Order: sequence, then C-alpha cells, then structure tokens
Amino acid sequence: MAFDPTALRAEFPILDQSVNGRPLVYLDNAATSQKPRAVLDASRHYYEAINANIHRGVHHLARLATKAHEEAREKIARHLNASAPEEVIFTSGTTDGINLVASVLGRSDQLQAGDEVLISTLEHHSNIVPWQMLCERRGAELKVIPSHEDGTLDQDAYRALLNDRTKVVAFTWISNAFGTVNPVQEMVAAAKAAGALVLIDAAQAAPHLAIDVQALGADFLALSGHKVYAPTGIGILWGRRDVLDSLPPWRGGGEMIKEVTFAKTTYNDLPFKYEAGTPNIEGAIALAAAFDFMEGLGMAEIAAHESGLISAAAEGLSAIPGVKLYGPADRAGALSFGIEGVHHYDLGTLIDQMGVAVRTGHHCCQPLMARFGITGTTRASFAAYNTAAEVETLVTAVDKALSMLR
Ligand code: ALA
Repeated sequence: MAFDPTALRAEFPILDQSVNGRPLVYLDNAATSQKPRAVLDASRHYYEAINANIHRGVHHLARLATKAHEEAREKIARHLNASAPEEVIFTSGTTDGINLVASVLGRSDQLQAGDEVLISTLEHHSNIVPWQMLCERRGAELKVIPSHEDGTLDQDAYRALLNDRTKVVAFTWISNAFGTVNPVQEMVAAAKAAGALVLIDAAQAAPHLAIDVQALGADFLALSGHKVYAPTGIGILWGRRDVLDSLPPWRGGGEMIKEVTFAKTTYNDLPFKYEAGTPNIEGAIALAAAFDFMEGLGMAEIAAHESGLISAAAEGLSAIPGVKLYGPADRAGALSFGIEGVHHYDLGTLIDQMGVAVRTGHHCCQPLMARFGITGTTRASFAAYNTAAEVETLVTAVDKALSMLR
C-alpha cells in the first residue's frame, strides 16, 4: 500500500487541533515528535492492566510487567539488529546514554592523561559537555572535527586528527541543527582503524533511518524515545557486550547488584548492571510499540516521504529573497534557515500566530552557531505525518511574516 501521510494523521490525535485559529502545522519534530494511538494505547494498557515493579515480585502483576518489559527489550534489540538483548540498556534518553558512557570511562583506566577524545563541530551540547567533563577528570584533551561551509564535516581533517592517542570518537549521525547526514559507516571505520571507541549519537537518525548496529561497527549508540513517536523519559544506549563488560557500573542502587554487604558489593550482569533503580517500565513498553509502528510504516518509506517534504521546503524557502539555508542539499530531518535583518525569534513568533510550530535559536548547538557566525536559526523539522500542504503553509507563512517584519 502506498504511504499515505494524510491517512496516517488520524493515528495522531494531537494533530487535529487549531492554534491561533489555524490548523496546527507541527514542524518541530526534531525537538520531539507526536505520539500515535498505538503508543498511547501501549502506555495506557500498561497502567490499566499490568502496572507493578519488575524483577522483584513473585506475584502475578509483577510477572506480567517483567515479561512485558523484557519483551520490549528483545523487540528493540531486533529493531536495532543488536546481537543480544543484553546489549540494550534502557536510559532516560540520548543525553543520559552519553553521560553513562562518559562517566564510566572516567572511572576506568581506558582513558589516561594526554589521551584524546574527538567530537565534531555539529554536536549537540549533550555530545560535547559530557566529554568535556570526562577530559577534565582524566586530564585528556578534547579535539573537534571542523565543518565545511556547507555544514558537512571535513573528512580529511577528521582522518588527520585521528592518532594513537585518540581513545574515543563521538559524533552525531544526523545534525539536529542543520540536518547534515554524516557518512557514519566510513567515520566509524576510520575511528576503529585508529583503535578508538566510537559512540554514535543517533537521536536524530532514529526517527528517519533504519539502524543496524552490527553493520555500523561502533561500540555505542544512543537514542531518545520521544523523537521516535514514543514518550519522553525513555531512551536506549546500545553497547557492544564485550565493551560494556569491560567497563565499571555507573549509578549504584537496586537491580544493578548481585550481592551487597556493608563490606563489599558485587555487580549484576548486563543489562541490569547499568539499570539501577526502578526503570521507566511503561516507557520501555511504549518505545517498543513505537518501533513496531515505524516498522509497520517502513523505514525506507518514511525516509522517502520526508526527503520529498524537506526538498520542497528547501525549494520554497530559498525562493524567498534574503533566505539563507544552512546545511547540505541532501539533508535529512531538519531544515535550518536564516533571513538577513530578521531575528529568528521574531519570525518563529509570527508564524506561530499562523499555526506553524518551528524551533528557533541555537538548537543546543552554540559552538556550531559560533562557527557560522550566527546566534541561531529558524528550523523546520519533519515527521512521517507531515504533508506537502503543510510545507506550502510553512513557505506562505514565512513569506507573509517577512512582509510584516521588513
Ligand atoms: N535536541 C532537540 C532539538 O534539537 C531538543 O530540538
């Protein structure tokens, strides 16, 4: 059956509303996506039918909740093509997953004074600050892959930066600010050839692309549920089992232990070693439902549909005098633009009056904005339920707002 975004919208109750008297045009999907009935139903069913704490109780509901939680992990492992469900750690989101890796590396001997951590100019603050904190703690140095003028990374400079002191390479698959799609496979291969651990920030890739962690060849991959049609407060850190096994635990508490005495604690096996405390059980179940939902639509179909929308938006917006688009032409997910003499905040506020929701500002990428000599952009970002008519509304709204602002 052909991919039909208009029919799909019926699955998203929130989309059927007016904002400031106009139909809502939700183009802030890179910040968070809306939730389909299948995900809302999974959350509701969990609380209405099986809510209990997991891995602890012998009673009926505890068994049901534990089973549903672990089946969710198995389903997510299959979606990511992980070699085992134990490699899937539930987190609260991408930020949490990156902090987990950076924190445990800070407590291991795998990073020494003088070693280097390599990130890129395109990174979100969540893939910068944890590494800065790690470098401070271990006396290591943070290095940055530069960006070309078109918002792609300088791959020659990347390869030149890799050396035998490079112990960690962490970069985003798709830029949340500019929509740049990094050549992730090549970048991972180069980092592995240099002997580094590699972390992929897949927060923006997960809603748009199929993920095969075994084919990618990295050591860690982090993503957020709320960007893939699931609730906030749930995410995944996938890690290669041997690497996770070689690292110390992170947070201490229940679930992550084998045995506790006042003298000494022994730690649990994966994945529980990294899941201290009662987890977001409903979130994990809803996240598995969200992956099922996306697989039902087809990741290739989602990508093809969104790519058509983003190209049409780029064409429409670039025809407006004074509009400058950021990022390369083959961007995915997000389209960022600036307009000479117009503050992005004013533009965003005016088009909100016309029902159009976009994000304005630095998109948690201040160093990237500094690289381009700007304080921020206006960003439209797309999901499977957006339509060509919404792209037209966006372009018309921007045009109209500019005639008011100029
Ligand atoms: N990282 C999210 C964004 O880009 C919040 O909007």
